[in-house]
Amino acid sequence: MLAENQTAITRAADLKELEEIKVRILGRKGELTSLLHGLKDVPPAERPAFGQAANRVKEELLRCLETRETELKQSAWRGSVQGLDPTLPGRPAELGRLHILYRTLQTMEDIFTSMGFAVAEGPEVETDYYNFAAMNFPADHPARDMHDTFFISDKVLLRTHTSPVQVRLMEKQAPPIRAIMPGKTYRCDDDATHSPMFHQVEGLMVDEGVSFADLKAVLTLFVRRMFGEDAQLRFRPSFFPFTEPSAEVDMSCVKCKGRGCSLCKGTGWMEILGAGMVHPNVLRSGNIDPQRYTGFAFGMGVERVAMLKHGIDHMRYFFENDARFLEQF
Ligand code: PHE
Repeated sequence: MLAENQTAITRAADLKELEEIKVRILGRKGELTSLLHGLKDVPPAERPAFGQAANRVKEELLRCLETRETELKQSAWRGSVQGLDPTLPGRPAELGRLHILYRTLQTMEDIFTSMGFAVAEGPEVETDYYNFAAMNFPADHPARDMHDTFFISDKVLLRTHTSPVQVRLMEKQAPPIRAIMPGKTYRCDDDATHSPMFHQVEGLMVDEGVSFADLKAVLTLFVRRMFGEDAQLRFRPSFFPFTEPSAEVDMSCVKCKGRGCSLCKGTGWMEILGAGMVHPNVLRSGNIDPQRYTGFAFGMGVERVAMLKHGIDHMRYFFENDARFLEQF
């Protein structure tokens, strides 16, 4: 019995077969188990010798089972690592990161919050009232035209700028107000420097005695922190319905520092944002008395800031999700 079972054990092809053999010998109805049960039928004088012999067989078989189990486990492991070269260098772990636009936005937020600006948000699906009427757009203003605005219904649209958050904020909060309002904006426009969805950061400061000088100081500080201490600003007279006076603000070219190159088309300047003193009608929309309070506002594109800062020449790179582009930042 010992010899034939030992043979069976050493020939077991895998762990499953070994387990079956083990049950056949040592299970509840196994060969050896029955043999030991038969001990009571052996004449008393022979019992000790019989019992000792049976136990030796049992120990021997258990040792044999254990040896075979170790062998089978080792060969299974060897099979699974066959062809594996532990001296090869490991595969690098890929780390994710924030999208360059959100990194740019974070830097912008850091700069403005360090100047005491709070961060506020408003809805992307806006009413005609907040996007246009409250911002002092005349009823027939061309910016309401279908060509710029994604209308959802007659009175509901995707906001074309973050400026509507100005009035939403003024309705909720009395001056002094000092806040930036970042978020997504939408316009029916698509080329190298425009995308139907883009990001803006709106800025608003309202208090007694806020002047154009404050606007210049805040924007100059921002641009120098963002682009370097040698950055220069230029304010060009412009028009927005919601500011008076209004300005378009140019920055000295990041590449040629104002000497003139292909990036700035030889002018030495690049447009970076729109700004102005909040129009009295907009203050009134926000229930603020324009006799007592004045304010400035500005709005700038996050994509534009990122493009200028990193020398990116086409808007589509931001939204293609090509890892080769994204992992450069
Ligand atoms: N809302 C304007 C735009 O989208 C930018 C702007 C904001 C201009 C605030 C002046 C003041 O072009």
